[in-house]
Amino acid sequence: MVPGGVAILDFGSQYNQLIARRIREMGVYCELIPGNAPMPSIFRIKPAALILSGGPSSVYDHDAPQPDPAIFQTELPMLGICYGMQLLALHENGKVEGGYEREYGPAKLYHEKDIDLFNDIESGLQAWMSHGDRVVKVPAGYRTTAYTELLPIAAMADVTRRRYGVQFHPEVNHTEFGVKLLRNFVFGISGISPDWSMKTFLKKSIETVRDELAGGGNVILGLSGGVDSSVVAALLHEAVPQRFTPIFVDNGLLRMGEREEVVETFRDHFGMPLKVIDGSEKFLSALSGVTDPEKKRKIIGRVFIELFESAASEIENVTHLAQGTLYPDVIESISFRGPSATIKSHHNVGGLPERMNLRLLEPLRELFKDEVRELGHELGLPDHIVSRHPFPGPGLAVRILGDINHEDLDILRKADRIFIDYLLENDLYDEIWQAFAVLLPVRTVGVMGDERTYDRVIALRAVTSTDGMTADWYRMPPEHLARISSAIVNRVKGVSRVVYDISTKPPGTIEWE
Ligand code: XMP
Repeated sequence: MVPGGVAILDFGSQYNQLIARRIREMGVYCELIPGNAPMPSIFRIKPAALILSGGPSSVYDHDAPQPDPAIFQTELPMLGICYGMQLLALHENGKVEGGYEREYGPAKLYHEKDIDLFNDIESGLQAWMSHGDRVVKVPAGYRTTAYTELLPIAAMADVTRRRYGVQFHPEVNHTEFGVKLLRNFVFGISGISPDWSMKTFLKKSIETVRDELAGGGNVILGLSGGVDSSVVAALLHEAVPQRFTPIFVDNGLLRMGEREEVVETFRDHFGMPLKVIDGSEKFLSALSGVTDPEKKRKIIGRVFIELFESAASEIENVTHLAQGTLYPDVIESISFRGPSATIKSHHNVGGLPERMNLRLLEPLRELFKDEVRELGHELGLPDHIVSRHPFPGPGLAVRILGDINHEDLDILRKADRIFIDYLLENDLYDEIWQAFAVLLPVRTVGVMGDERTYDRVIALRAVTSTDGMTADWYRMPPEHLARISSAIVNRVKGVSRVVYDISTKPPGTIEWE
């Protein structure tokens, strides 16, 4: 067994995060690295094996991304997936051809049982295809190891040099035995020892933070009470307790009881020197009369920065700003053809570190959301924080459609609380990616007792998702909807109607603004 991780050279396939995930789930460290990165940045993580990923290009495009040719001089085991297989074939003087009809979807794959990549995998499995080009002649030293009805060379191998190519995608769930195939590559072929876990990650991160702060400076963090910033806070408190100050800005757009909960958890329970800034009036007066969602976001971002900077200036010798950036955010910003179009200005406080002349500390930038949750548990954060639904930075401002005022905030807080409490009490909360109430800027007619009412409408939104990029509406059983609806109408003054949002994303978004 050899120590080390797997470097995945990223050529832009939409499935690449899945490869990273599958390998981490095996207890092996891995990182996605831009496909055209030079050798030193690939070797920074001391890989014990390389994966060349799929991608949308044709190897014959004039701007087709190419790996550093030096990788082919190494003796590392190599697995090329789809575009990665074609790159491998081409570099080793095989032949790749375009001009075939694009093959997309499942195909029955037949393979030679004696090949180590297919060890313990039945022939005739279903494999997921997504390609235009194909390898038509394997390089010298390679053999064809699998085929489908339409594709004579669906996998190839040079077992002696441990170089493999598969035209299908083992990382997607639609490929039967896909995980087994990746395991064969990582363990059987590359002999990597599984030594990656949240415990080792935590230990390593604490050392990294201490090294980074070896110069003696202090670190601050904008703590929102959401999962990511809470985990960063707990980590920094563990690593450098004397030199870390979390700053919590109450923007007046939080949910019911949120500020109290943050104070209770981080100041009272963990004993952190939490700085609480009450900015409610500042935010609300800056937002007065503003109805445009993007304007709301910009104003909230600006006021946040002002208050945060002023709070930070009261702390001595601050050299670092910590942020809860996660791996998907990192990938999105480095992938050359990734879905980088920003539809809403989500990164509300971008530019803060440059402006304040601070160095960034992003201890979670290698993790996926569920790994962050696991780390949170490891650090002793309470379950209600670790398993919390995401909440947008601009808070309730983007859930009160139109103009924002105290009265509407109060209505929305009460309705949202009833909804969320119901989900928690009925064990529905953890089945849902994100649930919340929205206050609509319309009045509708109703009757209560003998009286005609003319009151507001609450929309309930509950979605399932894995990353927030796409989402489906949660199929909430009608008996639950009935109880939630009557609880809201009976207990929240000013609301006479409740509707349930059945839009998917796309074309809708999760938030209404
Ligand atoms: P959408 O509404 O774009 O949301 O489908 C996707 C995810 O992002 C959250 N979201 C935001 N988060 N600032 C944030 O920090 C924002 O301005 C913002 N807008 C949306 C949303 O709650 C969902 O989880």
